[in-house]
Amino acid sequence: MDDFAIRGGVLHVEDVPLPAIAEAVGTPVYVYSCRTLARHARVFRNALAALPSVHLAFAVKSNPNLAVLKVLQREGYGADVVSIGEMRRALAAGMPAADIVFSGVGKTAAEMVEALEAGLGQFNVESEEEGAELAALAAARGLIATATLRVNPDVDAGTHAKISTGKADNKFGVPYDRAAAIYTRLVALPGLGLRGLALHIGSQIADLGPSERAFTRMGALMQDLRSAGHVITHMDLGGGLGVPYRAGDDLPTPADYGAMVARVCGGWDVTLMFEPGRVITGNAGVLLTEVIRVKEGVNAPFVVVDAAMNDLARPAMYDAWHDFAAVRPSGETMLAHVVGPICESSDTFAMNRTIDRVVAGDLAVFRTAGAYGATMASTYNSRPLVPEVLVDADRWAIVADRIDPAAILAAERVPAWLG
Ligand code: LLP
Repeated sequence: MDDFAIRGGVLHVEDVPLPAIAEAVGTPVYVYSCRTLARHARVFRNALAALPSVHLAFAVKSNPNLAVLKVLQREGYGADVVSIGEMRRALAAGMPAADIVFSGVGKTAAEMVEALEAGLGQFNVESEEEGAELAALAAARGLIATATLRVNPDVDAGTHAKISTGKADNKFGVPYDRAAAIYTRLVALPGLGLRGLALHIGSQIADLGPSERAFTRMGALMQDLRSAGHVITHMDLGGGLGVPYRAGDDLPTPADYGAMVARVCGGWDVTLMFEPGRVITGNAGVLLTEVIRVKEGVNAPFVVVDAAMNDLARPAMYDAWHDFAAVRPSGETMLAHVVGPICESSDTFAMNRTIDRVVAGDLAVFRTAGAYGATMASTYNSRPLVPEVLVDADRWAIVADRIDPAAILAAERVPAWLG
């Protein structure tokens, strides 16, 4: 996190002191580092350099901001999208349609048609039903939908249950034992250009063992399909590599991951596809907030900040840890609970945590907020939609406006019958 460092007693993002952004934009606000984003993109790419053919599709869901996508596009990344809204963003950022992969269990017919007509590079088909529908939609238009079949390898990624996707009970992909039969039926359909398999077993993966087991299973299935005469040219290994959220977190690095992939999949003679999200964006962003007041508590004081669960949902949804740090740390600490203003107890960022001592009016950040932060924000409690800022060396720009509650109110109507 060297692009997020204290200089002259003040936390900077690259060369920009955070108080300057708070003063100009207000708080809460997400702040991203261009340099960190680009560096992470290169580190991940370099970690796979030993592989003969690689396609990188940034998982848009982790941070769909248009400017962030532009940084990834300039780094040569394509996109992994899960809705037509995400596809439009990737295209708007200048990513070629051919470099975009469309995942997701609930692609609608309208979405598939729009993606087909845009010339999207690959559909990761999640069920036999979807494959048949996609084939028919493509054939009716004289098109071929290039695709892989997403397989559920029934491997526990060992991550939080809500972000685990590769177990038999998860809704994703087709069951491993039925995959070969489904592949054989789908590959025969006109309109569908099946060329391989896809998987994604979960997110914030902290142990490479489950991924290795899943890839090994997929390799065996690939060989079975080849033995049956199918031509497999692409294997999509998904995303999921975790990032450190707190000091002492010991996670596999992209290099560790790349070495494992090279060992397990290096001889597959395919284009290997990857869908990294968090590993690129997670530590490239912070949520900047101001302390509203410090309220006395029974066991420890409550530090009430102006960011809330509507701005950063991860602690409330997944009990996630985000480091909390003062923008002008005094060196003193305090034991406190850190909470937002929303009227429910899940609006809690930290309990009984030793943090930098802060008082009302101080600025602070939640770290590692670049992934699944702003994109999961809502307007709950009629709060504004949080803005985003991108820093590049000593310049910075607002890359998403704060959406005022008045704009949301203006989109609502009272029906005539209510008078
Ligand atoms: N590919 C597919 C098909 C996915 O479903 C996901 C994430 C990714 C790639 C990217 O995974 P990543 O590299 O970012 O781990 N909101 C949750 C995370 C949900 C992840 C969903 N799928 C969180 O805040 O932790």
